[in-house]
Amino acid sequence: MDALRVNLKGRAYDILVGADLLRQAGEIIRPLELGRRLGLVTHPALAETHGYAPAVLDSLRHAGHEVGLITVPPGEESKSLDQATHLCRELVRARLDRGSAILALGGGVIGDLAGFVAATLFRGIAFVNLPTTLLAQVDSSVGGKTGVNLPEGKNLVGAFHQPRLVLADVLTLRTLSEREFRSGLAEVVKHAMIVDAAFFDSLERQADRILARDPDALQGMVARSCAIKARFVEDDEREEGLRAALNFGHTVGHAIEAALGYGAITHGEAIAHGMVVATALSVRRGLCPEWDARRLRELLGRFGLLDAPLPPPEALETYMLSDKKARDGVLQFVLTRGVGSVTFAPVFDREELRKGLREVR
Ligand SMILES: NC(=O)c1ccc[n+]([C@@H]2O[C@H](COP(=O)([O-])OP(=O)(O)OC[C@H]3O[C@@H](n4cnc5c(N)ncnc54)[C@H](O)[C@@H]3O)[C@@H](O)[C@H]2O)c1
Ligand SMILES: [Zn+2]
Repeated sequence: MDALRVNLKGRAYDILVGADLLRQAGEIIRPLELGRRLGLVTHPALAETHGYAPAVLDSLRHAGHEVGLITVPPGEESKSLDQATHLCRELVRARLDRGSAILALGGGVIGDLAGFVAATLFRGIAFVNLPTTLLAQVDSSVGGKTGVNLPEGKNLVGAFHQPRLVLADVLTLRTLSEREFRSGLAEVVKHAMIVDAAFFDSLERQADRILARDPDALQGMVARSCAIKARFVEDDEREEGLRAALNFGHTVGHAIEAALGYGAITHGEAIAHGMVVATALSVRRGLCPEWDARRLRELLGRFGLLDAPLPPPEALETYMLSDKKARDGVLQFVLTRGVGSVTFAPVFDREELRKGLREVR
C-alpha cells in the first residue's frame, strides 16, 4: 500500500492507494473515530454486479458501524440538486446526525454529489472517498471540490469540502470499461507532462503493464499521479494561481466536448487532443522541442486516446474565443517547455491558434 499525506492547514488527510483495500475499509477508518452511524452512497451496479458495496458494508459493520446504503442511478444527470435533496432526505431518515460520516463509493459523479451533501448536510459532516474509476482516483478525489450541475451548466453549485480520508483500491479499476479506463489515463499523462519527466518515462516503459491493468503498475501510477495533484492543491487550495497548470489540455479539450455535445467523446479523449494542440503551439513558439511533442503524441496514441473523430477547427475557435472564455480576444493558455515542464502564456493571434488546432488531425 502507498500512503501519501495531503498537507492542508487544519484539514490534512491521507490518500491510501493499494490492492483490495475496500475489504479492509472498517479497519482502516478506525483511527478517524467517525461516528457509529454512516451513510454509504454508490451506484446499483457497484452494489449488485461488482460486489464492491457489500465488501465495504461487511467490513464497516464488522468494525461496529451501523450503515445506511443509498444508491443513485449512474450518469452525469445524477449530479443534480434533485439527487442531492433525495440523498439528504434518505440520510436523515437513516438517522445520520452531526457526528456521522458519508462515504462515497464510485466515480467522479458519486464523489462530487456525495461530497456536496457531506459539505452541506447538518452544515457539514465528515466525508470519506472510495473512488472506483481511474479519473476519480487520480483527479476528482484530490482537491476537495464537490458539487452538482444546473440545467444552465456543469458544477455551478458546490463547495470546497476536504475528505477525512481517500481510499483508492486499484483492484476496482479492473472492472472499468476499456474506454472509461483509457479516458482516466489522459489525466495521468497530463500530470506527468506538467511536472514530472521521470514519471513520463515510466509511463512509456510500463504502458503495456498499465493497459493490462497489472495491480502493481496501477498502484504506482495512481499514487504518483495523486501526489502530483496533491502538491498543487497544497500550494493553492482555493485555485487562484499555480493550480491552473492542471488545466493543461483543457482549454481546447473543453471546446471539443462542447462542440461535439457532452458524451460524444470521453473527457480523456478530448483533453488528449487538447494537450496535443497546446504542445503544437508550444513547439511553434520555440518553447518546446519537437521531439517532446512526438513523445506525447506517441504515448497518448498508445493509450488509444487520439482515435476519436473531431469537430472542425473553426468550431473550436469560435467556442474558445466566445466572451466567456477569452477576455478581449486573449486566451490564457497553459503551454509546455517539454515533457515535465509547464508554462503559461496568452494566445491572441487567431492565425496562430488556427494553425495549432489543425495539428490535431
Ligand atoms: N471534483 C473534482 O475535482 C473533479 C475533477 C474532475 C472531474 N470531476 C467530475 O467527475 C465526473 C466524472 O467522473 P467519472 O469519469 O469517474 O465518471 P462516473 O462517475 O460517471 O463513472 C463512470 C461510469 O463508471 C461506472 N463505474 C464506476 N466505477 C466502476 C468500476 N470500478 N467498475 C465498473 N464500472 C464502474 C459508473 O457506474 C459510471 O457508470 C464529472 O461529473 C466531473 O465533473 C470532478
Ligand atoms: Zn480533466
